[in-house]
Amino acid sequence: MAYFFEEPSHTFGEYLLVPGYTSADCIPANVNLVTPVVKFKKGEKPALSMNIPLVSAVMQSVSDDKMAIALAKEGGISFIYGSQTIENQAAMVARVKGYKAGFVTSDSNVKPEDSLQAVIDLKERTGHSTVAVTADGTPNGKLEGIITSRDFRLDRVDLKNSKVSDFMTPFTELITGQDGITLAEASDVIWNNKLNSLPIIDKKGNLKYMVFRKDYASHEEHPLELLDSQQRYIVGAGINTRDYMERVPALLEAGVDVMTLDSSEGFTEWQRRALHDIHEKWPDAKVGAGNVVDREGFLFLAEAGADFVKIGIGGGSICITREQKGIGRGQATATIEVAKARDEYYERTGIYIPICSDGGIVHDYHMTLALAMGADFVMLGRYFARFDESPTNKLIVNGSYVKEYWGEGSNRARNWQRYDMGGASKLSFEEGVDSYVPYAGSLHDNVTMSMSKIRHTMCNCGAMTIPELQQKAKITLVSQASIAEGSAHDVIVKNTTLRAE
Ligand code: IMP
Repeated sequence: MAYFFEEPSHTFGEYLLVPGYTSADCIPANVNLVTPVVKFKKGEKPALSMNIPLVSAVMQSVSDDKMAIALAKEGGISFIYGSQTIENQAAMVARVKGYKAGFVTSDSNVKPEDSLQAVIDLKERTGHSTVAVTADGTPNGKLEGIITSRDFRLDRVDLKNSKVSDFMTPFTELITGQDGITLAEASDVIWNNKLNSLPIIDKKGNLKYMVFRKDYASHEEHPLELLDSQQRYIVGAGINTRDYMERVPALLEAGVDVMTLDSSEGFTEWQRRALHDIHEKWPDAKVGAGNVVDREGFLFLAEAGADFVKIGIGGGSICITREQKGIGRGQATATIEVAKARDEYYERTGIYIPICSDGGIVHDYHMTLALAMGADFVMLGRYFARFDESPTNKLIVNGSYVKEYWGEGSNRARNWQRYDMGGASKLSFEEGVDSYVPYAGSLHDNVTMSMSKIRHTMCNCGAMTIPELQQKAKITLVSQASIAEGSAHDVIVKNTTLRAE
């Protein structure tokens, strides 16, 4: 006989947190949102953690290299979409890793014998008014000098017939930094010498990077940015259960930090095989798996070697899986059950496998609920799709700014591998829609606000860390009537913008 779950399955909007005691030191500024990303043994530290509990969804309309840099600056991780060629995905990863926070590598420079026109052309193309001069004009050639648009008057020189070498500040007069210098040290040199930029060179005098005064200011604005040991942004990528033996080495070569099998349903032999093969060939590769929605599914992927497990079927905003196939589970119930299985597994084996609640987050407090219910971090698609940094077009529809957002299982993305059930069967129906989401501005502003709300709620619960929240949270189901009570009610609201998100 079929198995029947005793409880109906619920979603985040049906729950609230009941405050606990708040001590005087439990203030938002003291809340630490650090959270593990990959599994670790009791008493050890995870090989990878995040500074905020957010990752962006493995989707064409959400996670490219631009999104990855913006989110890493805030302390989270993007999983760059896998529904593109291996070369393109690896190139996106490489671009993120090449973007060393505050250390700029240009793709071209000028030579001393070039004309000033070359400097103008380069400025037009890159927007940079400071250009390094290298012996052969290559990005990492021997540094000969620096030329800026302040070194010559446009109305006084013959651009085509004037040489860069006659106007540049030559190497002998330049202050430079040695490769290996930290950003803080470089900034000190810039400030102490009233410079606008500092070229960083290696022992042979070859140019490695430029550090600009304005970039350091931006770095300081992002105290939680997520960097690897070489000061490069951390980045993730999605993979599938078909071409992983080619895709994984290309991503690793490009410098990817963590990957996830991206599938609508992960309790499958295909995921077990992929995890096995990848870990056998690349033992240090970090690979999450999913999605599952119950204890059994979690334990299966845990035994199969997943570094973290993603939860959620059918809850995504663009998802029509439940309508199309009748599979899925309320996201809150799924998270609660998988969290229990994770704790039980930890108790039994001493191995903590982080879990990620993926999809269905609508309001900021849903993130806090997911964490309180046991998630170590949450994956969001719609949320990030609304920001400047998402890869899609910003349009005006019915007088309002919107951004495009489409599911991986829509005809537009055609990511059929995500729904792969093996064999040669061709998917003949969609599991996602193509949609618009309201444009919401910059990622930085929105994430800062969301994290502020999480910190405040955590303080209401008397928790200063995510594990503490998971221990202390008191969570209640609410009736339909109390949900209505929770919004402004029985009044005519004047300023609706106050209630955004
Ligand atoms: P959202 O944050 O509610 O928009 O959900 C995003 C999540 O929906 C993703 O991380 C995926 O797990 C899932 N998803 C992405 N594309 C599709 C689709 O086409 N159909 C069903 N689920 C999808």
